Amino acid sequence: MGNVFVLDHPLIQHKLTYIRSKETGTKEFRELVDEVAMLMAFEITRNLPLQDKTIHTPVVEAQAKVLSGKKIGLIPILRAGLGMVDGVLKLIPAAKVGHVGLYRDPETFQPVEYYIKLPSDINERELIVIDPMLATGGSANDAIHSLKKRGAENIRLMCLIAAPEGVEMIKEEHPDVDIYLGALDEKLDEKGYIVPGLGDAGDRLFGTK
Ligand code: PRP
Ligand code: URA
Repeated sequence: MGNVFVLDHPLIQHKLTYIRSKETGTKEFRELVDEVAMLMAFEITRNLPLQDKTIHTPVVEAQAKVLSGKKIGLIPILRAGLGMVDGVLKLIPAAKVGHVGLYRDPETFQPVEYYIKLPSDINERELIVIDPMLATGGSANDAIHSLKKRGAENIRLMCLIAAPEGVEMIKEEHPDVDIYLGALDEKLDEKGYIVPGLGDAGDRLFGTK
């Protein structure tokens, strides 16, 4: 079964509070999402493998560490996932970025895929699927199925806020996928919004509505 990690670093929790607040306007919301994405990336990459490398410091020859293992691919789910990409790229600047476009039908809550463009070597990469919200789980579930259908084998999911329903769906459908969250909230409301949540992530990021 995939693991679920709630990243309880105080800086992440502090910034998440202001992201949630309806008093926070678009500019500040964007900046905070970017900062939290960077902090989450720091935690998520904690277990990346290292290998030895011989270097020459100005003083001596020394054994030092460099990252080894698979290269990283970031897969934001459009639109709202875009708001977290730059924050992650600050720590992993060489990552390739693929895009999956999905929107959730407001009546049925079913995800509708409208765009996909991926790096050609996703099967050789450690992929991080990025979306601020994991609500019913339909969108992330679809995105992960799409990636697996195209050969992806190593996938992690990173979300700011999740509902228990979404976490359960991903654990059932994708037991190989570890989930990293800023917070695990209480429930979904009748419109499929996370409670307490932050509202509509795409609208708050891009100033629509
Ligand atoms: C939001 C969010 C997720 C999805 C989560 O996107 O960014 O992708 O809803 O809901 P789910 O877990 O129930 O599928 P939305 O459909 O609002 O599209 P947008 O990002 O284009 O605004
Ligand atoms: N999508 C959002 O943007 N917010 C929610 O609370 C649920 C789905």
